[in-house]
Amino acid sequence: MTALTLSTSAAAALRADAVVVGVTKAAKGGPRVAPGAETVDAAFGGKLGSTLETLGATGAEGELTKLPAPDGVKAAVVVAVGLGDTPEEGAGFDPEALRKAAGTAARALAGAKKAAFALPAGDPADVEAVAIGALLGAYAFTAYQTDSGKGPLGEVAVVGAKPRDKSFKAAAERATAVAEEVNRARDLVNTPPNDLTPKAFAAAVQAAGKEYGLTVEVLDEKALLKGGYGGIMGVGQGSATPPRLVRVAYSHAKATRSLAFVGKGITYDSGGISLKPPGHNETMKCDMSGAAAVFAAVVAAAKLGLEVNVTGWLALAENMPGGGATRPGDVLKMYSGKTVEVLNTDAEGRLVLADALTRASEEAPDAIVDVATLTGAMVLALGDGRFGIMANDDDFRTAVHTAALAEGEDSWPMPLPQQLRKTFDSPTADIANMGVRPGGGLVAGLFLREFVGEGITWAHLDIAGPAFNEGGPSGYTPKGGTGSAVRTLVALARQTAEGDLL
Ligand code: BES
Ligand code: MN
Ligand code: ZN
Repeated sequence: MTALTLSTSAAAALRADAVVVGVTKAAKGGPRVAPGAETVDAAFGGKLGSTLETLGATGAEGELTKLPAPDGVKAAVVVAVGLGDTPEEGAGFDPEALRKAAGTAARALAGAKKAAFALPAGDPADVEAVAIGALLGAYAFTAYQTDSGKGPLGEVAVVGAKPRDKSFKAAAERATAVAEEVNRARDLVNTPPNDLTPKAFAAAVQAAGKEYGLTVEVLDEKALLKGGYGGIMGVGQGSATPPRLVRVAYSHAKATRSLAFVGKGITYDSGGISLKPPGHNETMKCDMSGAAAVFAAVVAAAKLGLEVNVTGWLALAENMPGGGATRPGDVLKMYSGKTVEVLNTDAEGRLVLADALTRASEEAPDAIVDVATLTGAMVLALGDGRFGIMANDDDFRTAVHTAALAEGEDSWPMPLPQQLRKTFDSPTADIANMGVRPGGGLVAGLFLREFVGEGITWAHLDIAGPAFNEGGPSGYTPKGGTGSAVRTLVALARQTAEGDLL
């Protein structure tokens, strides 16, 4: 990954290929040069703002202008990125504006060796925002390209930080750990499903477990059958590549709280016998994004040494219509003992998650958060940029929403209306895996709730919208896998460690 350094040098004096400066929208007239760029502006004879205005810059978010640097600036190129509105007198910059601007600049600097980021970053929180935005924006997935082109920006040097100051150092370490793990999740999502099988995914967790001192247990298809995991087996049995349930645990000797994260890990969702039509299956390698987020968040907790126990449960299966596949009409006996009539084999996520939720509940964690690309209905409801949050506890749902917002992850609270519960009653089994279509995302949430242990606080994140970006890149969000929910999960783990959540 792109390297991160902190620098006390003046922006103009730093040896780099490019220096990144911020511009805001002024109340009237053209763009205004943001703090951090003073020495660069001085080298322009104080005319950086008016030069940018002549070039058409306004300071709007997402805007990027490149210009040759004048004498007195060590870098050859100045990259000016928009930060949006100028903050009120005395107010700081919105961290998300800093992250997006840094990400936009880092993307535009692909191929460069080193860039100095002279954005307004006076305190450790600002430095963390700039660093994480730059490291996430620099991400590129080129593993499958024989000619991978320019390659990402080599080094991000954040100007304005005090590298020897403990709080700045800690901010940089946090940014590095979290960005590495978001990028790990992105890599997993982007890896084609012929390579990222349930078995290969489990092996990747085992390898990381060794590296970071995590406890990893893998249940293979024999163990799943023997253990009575009818949901996971029922979904995986139509595939030539069998399912896995992975438990990956980070623990801290002084922890007094425990969290369980449960991830949907469908390595490819063809729909099964209820086959998806063309137009709906091209991006379905992304259906393991929840498991990727959970895995990455557990590793991040370990890297950060958080004082909390975090256990990840990855429900891995490939949903295929092979000869052994579950049929619409089959009844599965779930790990919990409940029977489920499968009416639509494309509603597979809730089946694998149900078993993992029951299993996670057995360890009686203080809270469970599951993450899943669960329903197209959630995408229709909220658009493709935000995830829906459902929970069995209003305060916990609010806390998750607040944590996500602070991390720059767009989300919205959604209800679990009791009236929809009876719509997945089954004439044959205890329940069916499908209810009414209107509110389909909420129906799925209600289904999952049936498998959460009595008295355990639980939230469900439906990331079907934001997990995979089919549009162009923007800010620090690339095309393809986004690493959605990783930062929110890490924030929840950190808050729990600090005694602020549970
Ligand atoms: N993996 C899909 C949901 C999905 C849709 C993820 C779009 C990402 C983007 C899920 O398994 C699915 O197929 N859900 C069905 C459920 C329905 C059959 C009750 C859906 O949403 O149509
Ligand atoms: Mn499906
Ligand atoms: Zn699915």
